Amino acid sequence: MKAVVAGGAGFIGSQLVDRLLDKGYEVLAVDMIPADRARNIAHLSDRRGFEYMSIDMNGDEFAEVCKGADEMYHLAANSDIRSGGQDPHIDFDNTLCTTRSALEAVRANGIPRMFFSSTSAVYGDKKGKRLTEDEGDLRPISYYGASKLASEALISAYSYMCGFDALIFRFPNVVGPRLTHGVIFDFIEKLERDPSRLVILGDGRQNKQYVYSQDLVQGICDFMSRGYEGYNIFNISTESFTDVNTIADIVCRGMGLDDVKYEYTGGSCGWKGDVPSFDYDISKAKSEGWSFRYNSTQAVEATVTAVLSTR
Ligand SMILES: NC(=O)c1ccc[n+]([C@@H]2O[C@H](COP(=O)([O-])OP(=O)(O)OC[C@H]3O[C@@H](n4cnc5c(N)ncnc54)[C@H](O)[C@@H]3O)[C@@H](O)[C@H]2O)c1
Repeated sequence: MKAVVAGGAGFIGSQLVDRLLDKGYEVLAVDMIPADRARNIAHLSDRRGFEYMSIDMNGDEFAEVCKGADEMYHLAANSDIRSGGQDPHIDFDNTLCTTRSALEAVRANGIPRMFFSSTSAVYGDKKGKRLTEDEGDLRPISYYGASKLASEALISAYSYMCGFDALIFRFPNVVGPRLTHGVIFDFIEKLERDPSRLVILGDGRQNKQYVYSQDLVQGICDFMSRGYEGYNIFNISTESFTDVNTIADIVCRGMGLDDVKYEYTGGSCGWKGDVPSFDYDISKAKSEGWSFRYNSTQAVEATVTAVLSTR
């Protein structure tokens, strides 16, 4: 089996590449990170069956290089929602247009199966309402969330028109080794610069669900290997929550800092477009076998340990 992993040098994509190679796949990872800066896949340079191409997926070349693939895993996106919030073009180009490129590559090459990494951000701010995949009133409040929702719509149409199978996971915050962004990464960087104080965006009470990257990647592979037909969406999460103050405490403890002054920027959310809390119903995924080793706070703890061990 040959798989293309778009966004394959990223935090989650690179761990998916590892898992697919372990399963015996040939893998082409595509990402716009230059090869000499693609640290997450540096360990694979001599691995049999692995190839890396540093290209922008939005160029014509992308469909060409996907020739012969059996599966497309589309994980490329702008994952820095805050910077995307300053400039809508970032999400339009890297979150939405990359989906169009992935779909054109699937169509042009007759690739029979596709995976897409969607997000809880498609739901918008539902003020704690428990969300199922059937929720009809989707009102994203970030350009990122809107680009993911538009991507899902395009995948639905292409899957029907071209007759390929599409699996979509909507996941919340993902943490784990090789983290490249997000609250844990941000706190560690800030505390390395100044261990006496920590500026926390919002009021620290944003309460979210975290899933461990390796649990997620296992789930992606398990569900893909079952071969769902048509267009299928699953909420994926851990059913538990961790608030930002707790994350700050875990990071400080992990770094051996016991006298850090927390300073809050104020307000209930970290930045415009941030959804401070949401609740997911994952019974559909669980009934199909989704399971996880780490609950939300355990995932945060394991991540802090993993990230600090590489600093
Ligand atoms: N990390 C999370 O908490 C989270 C939560 C929900 C959904 N997701 C989704 O999961 C996927 C992977 O996220 P991640 O956390 O690994 O992010 P990441 O930023 O580490 O990986 C995404 C990769 O996509 C690449 N990319 C972006 N635009 C590209 C383009 N035009 N051409 C080629 N490559 C391009 C980036 O260079 C990056 O390496 C993304 O689609 C993201 O939206 C992530």
